[in-house]
Amino acid sequence: MRMYDVILKKRYGGELTDEEIRAVVRGYTDGTIPDYQMSALMMAICFQGMTDHETAVLTDAMAHSGDVLDLSEIPGVKVDKHSTGGVGDKTTLIVGPIVAACGCHVAKMSGRGLGHTGGTVDKMESIPGMRTELSREEFIRTAMEAGITVTGQSGNLTPADKKMYALRDVTATVDSIPLIASSIMSKKLAAGSDCIVLDVKTGSGAFMKTVEDSIKLAQKMVAIGEHNGRKTAALITNMDIPLGNQIGNALEVEEAVRTLRGEGAADLTQVCLALATEMLTLAGKGTREECAGLARQAIDSGEALERLAAMVRCQGGDEECIYHPEKLGSAPFSIGVRAARDGYITHMDTAGIGYAAMMLGAGREKKEDSLDYLAGIRLKKKTGDAVRAGEEIAELRASDEALFAGAEKKFLESVTIAEEKPQPEPLVYARVTAEGVEHIF
Ligand code: URA
Repeated sequence: MRMYDVILKKRYGGELTDEEIRAVVRGYTDGTIPDYQMSALMMAICFQGMTDHETAVLTDAMAHSGDVLDLSEIPGVKVDKHSTGGVGDKTTLIVGPIVAACGCHVAKMSGRGLGHTGGTVDKMESIPGMRTELSREEFIRTAMEAGITVTGQSGNLTPADKKMYALRDVTATVDSIPLIASSIMSKKLAAGSDCIVLDVKTGSGAFMKTVEDSIKLAQKMVAIGEHNGRKTAALITNMDIPLGNQIGNALEVEEAVRTLRGEGAADLTQVCLALATEMLTLAGKGTREECAGLARQAIDSGEALERLAAMVRCQGGDEECIYHPEKLGSAPFSIGVRAARDGYITHMDTAGIGYAAMMLGAGREKKEDSLDYLAGIRLKKKTGDAVRAGEEIAELRASDEALFAGAEKKFLESVTIAEEKPQPEPLVYARVTAEGVEHIF
C-alpha cells in the first residue's frame, strides 16, 4: 500500500478497503507514516466522510493499536460513560460515583482538555497528590475498592488515537463524524466495559452544532458499540450553555463535590441524574424509574460522595479536598464582569466562554501548554436570566492579573443581552439506542 494512493482515493470519495485502513493505522502508530500524510488523509475524510463499514474497521484498528483491557477480574457489570466534550462538563466526577454507589463498577479512561473544552484528567489533577497514570493493576484494584476509577490514556491503550487526536487538534480535523466516532469508540472498546453510555453534546460549545448532527454521531457510535457486543446508549444533551456554574479545574471539582452533597446547580444535577439513570438501566439495575430513584438516593445518602473520596484516596490524592473542597485553594486574583445593559441573557456562545477560561490559564491552547488549576470562571448569570446594567454576571479568577483584559473581552463578546426573555431550551433532547431515536424532554 502506498499512503499517497490512499489519500488520493479518499480525496475523490472512494471507499477504502479494510487492508488499507488497517495499514494506515498500523503505519501511523509505528511512525512509518508521517504526520503530513496522515493530516492529508484526515482532511480528505472530513470532506468525503466514511461509510459505516469503513468507520467500524477504523475503530477496530485503533482499538487494537495497543493493549485491550480485560476487566473480567472485576466482578459484576462494568459500565463506562463518555462525553463528546464541552464547557463546565464535570459529569464524570458526579455520575461515576453515583453509579458506583448503586453497585456497578466504573473503570474509565478519560482525556485532557484541549481548546475550549475541559478534560476530566486535568480536573482530577487539581487535587493534590492525585495520580492519573495508572498501571493496569492499579486501575483494576481501584475499581474494585472504590467502585470507580478514572485513568488517563496511559500505558499502551489506543496509541493510534493518542497520536491521531493530537494531530487532528492542530489540523482543524476534529469535527468529523467518522473521526470522532472512531476516536471515542476505540477508547471505549479498548477499556473493556460491558455497557457504554455516551453523552453527545450539541450546541455552540460542542463539536456538533445541531441536534440532527449529534443524533447522526450518536447513531454511528451506538452501532459500533452494539456490533462489538457492548450494550450502548446515547443521550443528546445541551451544550449551548455551559453546564453548571463553574469552569476551570479546581472550580469544577468543587462544584462536583457540591452536586454530590445535593447542593448542585439544577441543570448540572438534572443532566448527571439522566446519565446515571441511563447507565444503571443498561446495567440491568431495574426499570428506568427505579434507576432514577437509585441515582437520587445515592446522592441523598452521601454514598456517592464517599465513592468519590475513595477513588481520590486510592489514586494517591488528598481525600480531605473532597470533604473540605476549600482546601483545593483559590486563585489569588479575581475581577467581576458586569453587564453592559439591562435585559435578559439570550445566548451564551459556549465555546467563547470556554476560550475565556482557557485565556485565564484553565485550559491549554497547545497540548504542551501548562495549566493553572485554580484559574477559571464562576458564572453568576446564565441564559434566560434577567440582568441590570452594571450587575456582575461572572467572576474571573487567575494567578496573573495581566490575563484579565483579554479574557474579560472574550467573555463579554460571548454573551448576548437583549430585551426579550428567551424560550428555555431542553437539557436532554433525545435518547439514541439500537432500537432507534426517542425525543424525550
Ligand atoms: N473526544 C474524543 O475522545 N475524541 C474526539 O474525537 C472528540 C471528543
